[in-house]
Amino acid sequence: MDFTLTEEHLMIRDAARDFAKTELLPGVIERDNKQEFPTREVKLMGELGFLGMMVDPAYNGGGMDTVSYVLAMEELSKIDASASVVMSVNNSLVCFGIQAFGTEEQKQKYLSKLSTGESLGAFCLSEPEAGSDATSQKTSAIDMGDHYLVNGTKNWITNGNSADFYIVIAQTDRDKGHRGINALILEKTMPGFEVGPKEDKLGIRGSDTHSLNFNDVKVPKENRLGEDGFGFKFAMKTLAGGRIGIAAQALGIAAGAYETAREYSKVRKSFGTEICNHQAIAFKLADMHTKIEAARHLVMKAAWDKDQGKNYDLSGAMAKLYASQVAMEVTIEAVQVHGGNGFVKEYHVERMMRDAKITQIYEGTSEIQKMVISRAILRD
Ligand code: CAA
Repeated sequence: MDFTLTEEHLMIRDAARDFAKTELLPGVIERDNKQEFPTREVKLMGELGFLGMMVDPAYNGGGMDTVSYVLAMEELSKIDASASVVMSVNNSLVCFGIQAFGTEEQKQKYLSKLSTGESLGAFCLSEPEAGSDATSQKTSAIDMGDHYLVNGTKNWITNGNSADFYIVIAQTDRDKGHRGINALILEKTMPGFEVGPKEDKLGIRGSDTHSLNFNDVKVPKENRLGEDGFGFKFAMKTLAGGRIGIAAQALGIAAGAYETAREYSKVRKSFGTEICNHQAIAFKLADMHTKIEAARHLVMKAAWDKDQGKNYDLSGAMAKLYASQVAMEVTIEAVQVHGGNGFVKEYHVERMMRDAKITQIYEGTSEIQKMVISRAILRD
């Protein structure tokens, strides 16, 4: 078994690390305070190729593998999870979905702009009464011959206002259950498309999360992804890969908090010595490091499975379940290592603790991951 990263992987990781430190770190506390979208930073991310990493170069993408993507996700997430969620949704949910299931025309029209950041994407599945139970959504896409007429509301949409193109999952034929669902590409400028209020969130406050309303939006038939009735499977297949991206985000939040706590423990003194010399702190750091390494192995295994063309439903769900749990545990401990300083904004770890929580909720809660995992292991 060879765990060595290639020269190219190391270069990508170092470039992402450098970008995060020089471009994301300086304004991260202010953006979190003001709930300000990282507009300048996302534009730079697009220019540097972080928004379409796995997209075919024929559509302006980086043509990279999933291992490269999770390495970059981890580095950006160590510093700014609000910026990294923009990257995650654009890469794994939107670009992946169009690349894997889109027509040539859809790829030319949408993917080639999404992969450079010229346009941003959003993935719209959740509804007020259908977050985990994805087949119970009420948004409808009625077949009108040459177009669909879309009506309904979507909730908690990442990139809700900043996106230009939206993949919307909607019911066409309720009687057919999950086989009556379609995935459509909507454009923000389509008449009847309305961006609702911005959510005031606990964490990832720099990202813009909105509800969306659709009032008789006419969507051309050619904007459907896949065959008629493929929408639910489209969502499941796309989310399975998205979970690897969020697992990498969770890993990055944990690693960022751990590194911050470790460095702090080497300079902060109590009882006549640096606090890392007290076992109470050193043992915490040992636990944090061990958990992060275990999570990193799961994340890398899931990315490798995807790159090898193997099924990654199970490994992706396990990586997300465990890495998000580690993110929560490690960030809480990082605050504890900092003592009173951990409770104030300038030391970063309180933000990381708030940001960690969403990784146990979005792209399938921890309970959903356990459903996916238990179904897979009981089937075998
Ligand atoms: N790949 C391909 N097909 C899949 C699949 C996968 N990974 N998972 C399920 N399917 C197929 C099944 O094979 C089945 O097809 P057949 O009937 O033809 O056999 C069909 O889909 C229905 O599957 P299930 O019966 O398993 O469906 P279910 O209703 O029991 O739901 C679930 C399964 C795992 C709970 C699913 O509903 C789910 O994942 N829910 C969570 C949704 C979610 O993650 N929401 C988050 C919103 S997106 C977000 O957060 C984005 C953001 O902004 C960051």
